[in-house]
Amino acid sequence: MEEKFKPTFYVTTPIYYVNDVPHIGHAYTTIIADALARYQRLSGKKVYFLTGTDEHGQKIEKAAAEKGLKPKELADRVVVRFKELWQKLNISYDYFIRTTEEFHERGVQKIFQQLLAKGDIYKGTYQGWYCVSEENFLPEDVPLEAEGYKICPDCGRKALLLEEESYFFRLSAYQQPLLDFYAAHPRFVRPQSRMNEVVSFVRQGLKDLSITRTSVRWGIPVPGDPKHTIYVWFDALHNYVTGAGYGWNQELFQTFWPADVHLIGKDILRFHAIFWPAFLMAAGLPLPETVFGHGWWLKDETKMSKSRGNVLDPYLILEKVGADALRYFLLREVPIGLDGSFSHEGFVQRVNSDLANDLGNLVQRTLTMAFNYFGGQVPRPGEETGSDRELARSFFETRDRVFSLYDDYALSRALEEIWVFLNVTNKYLADNEPWKLAKKPESRERLARIIYQALCAIRGSSYLLYPVMPETAEKIWTLLGESCQPGEVLKSSLDFYGLAPGARLHQPRALFPRIDLAEFIGEMEKPWARAETAPKTEEKMEYISYEEFKKMDLRVAKVLAAERVPGTSKLLKLQIDLGSEKRQIIAGVAETYSPEELVGKEFIVIANLQPAVIRGIESQGMLLAAEVEGKAIIPFFDRELPPGTKVK
Ligand code: ME8
Ligand code: MG
Repeated sequence: MEEKFKPTFYVTTPIYYVNDVPHIGHAYTTIIADALARYQRLSGKKVYFLTGTDEHGQKIEKAAAEKGLKPKELADRVVVRFKELWQKLNISYDYFIRTTEEFHERGVQKIFQQLLAKGDIYKGTYQGWYCVSEENFLPEDVPLEAEGYKICPDCGRKALLLEEESYFFRLSAYQQPLLDFYAAHPRFVRPQSRMNEVVSFVRQGLKDLSITRTSVRWGIPVPGDPKHTIYVWFDALHNYVTGAGYGWNQELFQTFWPADVHLIGKDILRFHAIFWPAFLMAAGLPLPETVFGHGWWLKDETKMSKSRGNVLDPYLILEKVGADALRYFLLREVPIGLDGSFSHEGFVQRVNSDLANDLGNLVQRTLTMAFNYFGGQVPRPGEETGSDRELARSFFETRDRVFSLYDDYALSRALEEIWVFLNVTNKYLADNEPWKLAKKPESRERLARIIYQALCAIRGSSYLLYPVMPETAEKIWTLLGESCQPGEVLKSSLDFYGLAPGARLHQPRALFPRIDLAEFIGEMEKPWARAETAPKTEEKMEYISYEEFKKMDLRVAKVLAAERVPGTSKLLKLQIDLGSEKRQIIAGVAETYSPEELVGKEFIVIANLQPAVIRGIESQGMLLAAEVEGKAIIPFFDRELPPGTKVK
């Protein structure tokens, strides 16, 4: 099939619910989208990258009520957290859409009215089981429990029986048009397995879809019939057109719609692969090119989700290792489409071996040699030999493969190829042993060539890495004195020999320090060191024996001195008196207590906990505290006790 060149690229993420703060799963989709957007900009296209938040509906209404807030107040708070995380992750979105924005609400109403006039929306009565957590009516075939209710197959919660007057979307009329469309566009849904899943679902028949609720107030009112609120999914899906100018910026809309790719998790595939194209067909708008359903990040074998409360906190990981290591890990570890399992061990292992060793050391070593042997300038290379040409050829092949993998959204495979090339470069250095040549004045030209080749290899790799690791690429460009902006580097002109001999280099510094696994785990799993997203699962009761309990040496400790750990918002360094000895502990309590107010206080510490290094400081024990909304609350005694008193 011949592909015609399209000068624009429009990529979207789902718009995320604002019932809770973002987690690794949201970060994952958004990072994929960012890498694709950056790649397309690098290759010279005009890119539009849309993300945002889904702020209407019963789920948000309920979450806000539980927190004693108005839905919009909750949304305003959570939006800040999303934007902050996207900034920390260097997400280069062009627009952040909120479904409470007026232009979006107007756009949705306009489409609703249009479909109503055309007869694709009509009024009727709906009866069905509704899951508030998933904002979705249960499929009809979910069996009734003995107690007379239904359980949501997706989240395991009890569903509600709703009967109400409702507007319906005539989905049944689109069964055949959808099947025809899938047949003509076999790569509409990716990966392929998901396309098959969608086709067989649609073949089983489509019922009309209830798209309004009278029981929900928090949403967009049906124009002219405001006791009905537009169903949150009908509202939300249209963000992809309103966010690209539909109804308010015709030029923007003409430029970018239809989207090239909607990135989503497989949890919301049917909405995007069935409802969405049907809505668009009804509205007479062109359909998106691709819906890409990626897999889930699992923790302990279950899907990480806000509703389940088993999410990993991206803020903590970022604080520790920076954006690029997290971006690299998530995109490298699993091909888009498969599930991934996040473990601290796996993460640390990858960062250390791929980033600290393969990439970091290569850059460090090569730059250091350029400084030691050539005064910090790009050397003027001597004649090329076979192994030099081999390295260049390997680069060109890698470049072409990586670009076509990026074109095909195969980010993990692209990174794999880049790493093969980094290791080819590492081997080139090992084979040519420049450190030995440096001792022989007669080999100076050869030495210059080898260092030159290695610098070019690093430069070339940095451009290939840029979509996934923009910060690192920019650091490398600084080291090499490259002034090139990504937008200027057309992919076809990414050359290997792009460095000018004589150009000034900059002093190298470690790109990726090695991570100590024990220290990392200590920091990630310290319960009250987490920002607001601590697990809220109902944990299964697991009994321990008294013998096991007795192994814990719990003691009364008195605070002698306290100070903040610089550069952190949560940690205090405490000097404590344990009766027989004095110790130092690091405690994540700074958001609740000032250092001054803790001095002289007594609390319980576990004295025989293996010491841990936190933020480079040794902690010889841990105090006990309750955690409330991410804040540590320390239980104090109702009278003064001798330090060191045993607690049991
Ligand atoms: O569904 N692993 O919002 P949402 C990977 N508002 N990705 C995950 C994940 C996990 N464990 N958990 C969540 C909604 N995601 C709707 C979308 S779009 C018009 C409306 C990611 O806050 C993944 O992209 O529940 C998934 O599709 C999305 O978050 C769901 O986010
Ligand atoms: Mg969800």
